[in-house]
Amino acid sequence: MAKLKVGVLISGRGSNMAALIEAARSPGYPAEIAVVISNVATAGGLETARQAGIPAVAIPHKGYPDRESFDRAVSAELERHGVGLVALAGFLRIQSPWFPAHWKDRILNIHPSLLPSFPGLHVQQQALDAGVRLSGCTVHFVTAELDAGPIVAQAAVPVLPGDDADRLAARILRQEHRLYPEVVRWFAEGRLRVDGQRVAVEGLPAGATLLFSPEP
Ligand code: GAR
Repeated sequence: MAKLKVGVLISGRGSNMAALIEAARSPGYPAEIAVVISNVATAGGLETARQAGIPAVAIPHKGYPDRESFDRAVSAELERHGVGLVALAGFLRIQSPWFPAHWKDRILNIHPSLLPSFPGLHVQQQALDAGVRLSGCTVHFVTAELDAGPIVAQAAVPVLPGDDADRLAARILRQEHRLYPEVVRWFAEGRLRVDGQRVAVEGLPAGATLLFSPEP
């Protein structure tokens, strides 16, 4: 069966993108990374993608008069590569409502907190400042409201004494790299059902959980 073509949008180093590329290398994986697009021409992830033989395109947002015209240019590039799923992976540009409407139920994001806690920026510092003992990451469908679309799965990690934002971010990132490829696999297998704010994953083994547990 033809593999689902995934377009990955990044703004920086692209470690989640790299995790998706790595997962897609295994023969049984049902998706392939068709194109990587960055709104930042110097994003390190573009080079990583090129080295993996994947088309990597910079579309600097500064070249466009408004958010929607930039979004339409990105969308045209995704469509040129036959993309059926858009995966935001550290894409730090707020999109116009047009983009999630156009890609409705075909666009995922990974966010480094247990949403709906701590949307937006400086996420790990928000978690530390709030004094939570548990944080993690969330993969969710993207809607017009920032970091608020239907949640597919989450991975949890402890917040440990002595953590600063960087240490916590690194602990969460390891889980991001597990979680995102798994959710993209489910999507590619056609197993995600979105019903309002809730998402069901069909065909999970009995007793399976959509919370990836904390590391020991
Ligand atoms: C990741 O932690 C991702 O969850 C976060 O940016 C980082 C990108 O790292 N995304 C957001 O904060 C989106 N709101 P990466 O470029 O190495 O994948």
